[in-house]
Amino acid sequence: MKKIFAIALAAVMACGIFAGCGERKDNGGQESTPAGGSSASGSAVEAIKANGKLVMYTNAAFPPFEYLSDETSEAVGVDVDIAQAIADELGVKLVVENVDFDSIVPSIQAGKGDIGAAGMTVTDERKKSVDFSDTYATSIQYIIVPEETEVKSVEDLAGMAIGVQTGTTGDSLINGEVNGYEDDDGNAVQGVLQDTGAEEVQYKSALEATQDLLNGRINAVVIDKMPAEALVAKNDGLKCVELVYADGSKTEESYGICVAKDSDLLDVVNKVIKQLQDDGKIDEFMVNHSNS
Ligand code: ARG
Repeated sequence: MKKIFAIALAAVMACGIFAGCGERKDNGGQESTPAGGSSASGSAVEAIKANGKLVMYTNAAFPPFEYLSDETSEAVGVDVDIAQAIADELGVKLVVENVDFDSIVPSIQAGKGDIGAAGMTVTDERKKSVDFSDTYATSIQYIIVPEETEVKSVEDLAGMAIGVQTGTTGDSLINGEVNGYEDDDGNAVQGVLQDTGAEEVQYKSALEATQDLLNGRINAVVIDKMPAEALVAKNDGLKCVELVYADGSKTEESYGICVAKDSDLLDVVNKVIKQLQDDGKIDEFMVNHSNS
């Protein structure tokens, strides 16, 4: 029994360490190379400079933060622009790896990539595995539904099939409401959608979830505000509303860039974010990528 467990564990760990476990990659056709990690001196910055490249992990299905350009099919967006500024600051080229969202944190933790930039909400859970930069954007969750559906609050999703992107904050929120939570003391707490017939359906991206919404396979999609608005703008017959609870409370989230724990890269990332913010550049990136 123990042995079977050990083998299973080894397989899971191998999947986390080596590339190719079902990940989609997009590095602009360049050969895939490992991230800088840390050099003998323990400096990630030195290793990145020696390698001549900064490896960014993202999931390019989250406009305007990251999406595939219609013209070039390359990953572009606000986060790519920020990462490019970090690469410029380091004097290296930027390599973008487009992977499943839920593999970004483990990849950064394992040193496969240098930075994770994916409209990623800073959460205590993720902070156990990686460090986060200062935040550069805020968001709330949104609900996408067909135009004719009346939804004013989360509670109105009772009985519905709700699509989410695997591993996102929207995923944990809906999972909690559909299946119940545990509070800090480990006590079971009833979710507001529990026992209503509501069900959660996980997708690799909000784009895929939205396709199923259009096909009528699910009734709603929960995802961050700006991607929700972008998806609705691109597809007829849909609308989106803020995710609010019947008591008026809502979710608030802030995005940060993640790096391996205790990495000297964090100071560089924070310095660049501050500079971009002071120069009004991040707002500019948002505007540029919201019109595309
Ligand atoms: N902000 C949400 C989270 O951190 C969703 C991020 C999804 N990002 C993406 N590039 N697909 O969980």
